[in-house]
Amino acid sequence: MLKPYKAGKPIDELAREKNLDRIVKLASNENPLGPSPKAMEAMKAAIPQVHRYIDPSNFKLVSRLAEKYGKRPDQFICGHGTDALHGDILGAFTQTADEVLTSEGTFIGVYVNTRKHTRTLRLVPMNNWRYDLDAIAEAISPDTKIVYLANPNNPTGLYFTREEFENFMPKVPKDVLVLLDEAYDTYAGEYEDYPDGLEYDFENLIVTRTLSKIYGLGGMRVGFVVGPEYLIAELHKVRLPFEPNHLAQEAAIAALDDDDFLKLTVDTNRRNLKKMQEQFDTIGIEHLPTSANFIMLLLPSEQCATDFFQECLNLGLIIRHLAGFGIPNAVRINSGTDEETEFALDVIAKVYPSIIDKYRNTIAQSN
Ligand SMILES: Cc1ncc(COP(=O)(O)O)c(C=O)c1O
Repeated sequence: MLKPYKAGKPIDELAREKNLDRIVKLASNENPLGPSPKAMEAMKAAIPQVHRYIDPSNFKLVSRLAEKYGKRPDQFICGHGTDALHGDILGAFTQTADEVLTSEGTFIGVYVNTRKHTRTLRLVPMNNWRYDLDAIAEAISPDTKIVYLANPNNPTGLYFTREEFENFMPKVPKDVLVLLDEAYDTYAGEYEDYPDGLEYDFENLIVTRTLSKIYGLGGMRVGFVVGPEYLIAELHKVRLPFEPNHLAQEAAIAALDDDDFLKLTVDTNRRNLKKMQEQFDTIGIEHLPTSANFIMLLLPSEQCATDFFQECLNLGLIIRHLAGFGIPNAVRINSGTDEETEFALDVIAKVYPSIIDKYRNTIAQSN
């Protein structure tokens, strides 16, 4: 059955519902520092031109991307967020009932997009919360047209290494497309063995990146695909002609150059993730290590995770319950500003012990 994408709860909606004066949203892996300041300036400057249709080739943005990543402009196509581009990729390279193969416990957008396009989604079990690339390679069948890999994965926050990826790619038949989703590459790039997808030139590999996360432009909707020219040319046939919009493109061009902002964001993330991990250890919440800007927390049951999510919401903290990602006993929280993180940790310290007590009492009563 077709299910709509369920996003993290909007702040205004929760404020209306609960009559709370402080709400902190750490549910969508956004940049808590706001948009890149350079992007904001660029958008303001671009407003007087929005009566014009844009250049469908996205010449300026594509040229900037090509220069930044040392590739040819024809290896890029930009779109209205990577989610939209993933839909275009399905449209360009698969037909009804073709199979998309990926891991369990991966990005919800892929489940939604695949169903929406009436493609078949096949999920390979994770191995200790990690993508099992060997099992995925073995599971490729004649029906498989696309293998989707998110690195690092959302929501687990774990990544596969360069060595794992380089062992995996030769096992994939040349007529199967590998879609490598690198939404959090700047965060994970801190790890030496993280494979940068743009360093590879496989004929059947395309990489997607987004400006929604570390660049702080989730609301503008800009993403891009990088791949061999013959694949990018196919995507031009299905993408809408005038996306991303003019302000989004100008914002993206400016944000791509905002190294100070990226550095500030990476530092803020590192500092606040550390605070979170320490606190989770102190109060005994099971959590996974992370290479991105969020942490997955494991609760003892689905009911616990639902209660935990709801109790946090009641106190003004929006996090993400991961039922829709196929991990119903888990929630995900991203790092905030220093103040937001402190607020979140206060809420969690209040909520978690009572949830666990309730869970233990329920178990005791049923025995
Ligand atoms: C792994 C992954 N891919 C893609 C996206 C979607 O990004 P965009 O805002 O560019 O559509 C997200 C957003 O949560 C994500 O986590």
